[in-house]
Amino acid sequence: MSRVALVTGADRGLGLALSQALLEAGWVVVAGRHLDWPELDKLAARFQNTLHLVPLDVSSDESVSEAARELAKRVSHIDLLISNAAIHRSHHVERISASLDFNSMMDEINVNAIGALRLTRAFLPLLSNGELKRMCFVSSEAGSIGASLRTGWFGYCMSKAALNMAVKNLSNDLVPKGYSFRLYDPGWMRTYMSGEKNLEALLEPEEAAAKALAHFLDDSVNVEVTLHRWNGDDMPW
Ligand SMILES: NC(=O)c1ccc[n+]([C@@H]2O[C@H](COP(=O)([O-])OP(=O)(O)OC[C@H]3O[C@@H](n4cnc5c(N)ncnc54)[C@H](OP(=O)(O)O)[C@@H]3O)[C@@H](O)[C@H]2O)c1
Repeated sequence: MSRVALVTGADRGLGLALSQALLEAGWVVVAGRHLDWPELDKLAARFQNTLHLVPLDVSSDESVSEAARELAKRVSHIDLLISNAAIHRSHHVERISASLDFNSMMDEINVNAIGALRLTRAFLPLLSNGELKRMCFVSSEAGSIGASLRTGWFGYCMSKAALNMAVKNLSNDLVPKGYSFRLYDPGWMRTYMSGEKNLEALLEPEEAAAKALAHFLDDSVNVEVTLHRWNGDDMPW
């Protein structure tokens, strides 16, 4: 049986690099596409038989349900689900002020936290047919309450803390049923979260993807989910 992975936010950045690395390792990849960035088309031309592109907006119930319906026609199972899609609208927010944009914060929470739950609910039947049953959630050090020194970035930090709680509760329920979880901070990457490629950051997305996949596919990781970092450390919740 082919090993099948679903990756959200695969248009660019870490999601694109994860998809490419999995394809090169022989996986069938279902890449969730949001906007039409050209990089994913180039990958699709290289991997015509093993890359499936699926329109997927994790902020929308309809889009996620439709993607799950569409995918069930194409594959019998999913082994590895990677919830990677996220937005960061609050880089410029340094502290409490009149300019806080609560609607924008709700968008961050909808995509980054509730989006992961929508995804899990919709794709659980396909995951239950797979052998590996692994769910990986890309979080951030910004979601650690215990390690936080920030005075702003409210929407992004709150959304990642909420994601962490969702993953903990999911794991309490689903680990006894044979599923395994990874919750992961991929490090500071040269990606597009701030609107343009961040050349000051530490890691190219390809390097970050290799480290992430080593953790996602490591079967010796404890069943108790932790917030694990790219450098091998665990962070406080
Ligand atoms: N960059 C960092 O330094 C850093 C650090 C720690 C954690 N992270 C986490 O790493 C993950 C990947 O981020 P990245 O750095 O690769 O950022 P990125 O380059 O901005 O990529 C984010 C991806 O998410 C997609 N996306 C956004 N809204 C979506 C939606 N509603 N539905 C489906 N897909 C959506 C984007 O698609 P479109 O562009 O088409 O909208 C894009 O493909 C995120 O979870 C992020 O929080 C990043």
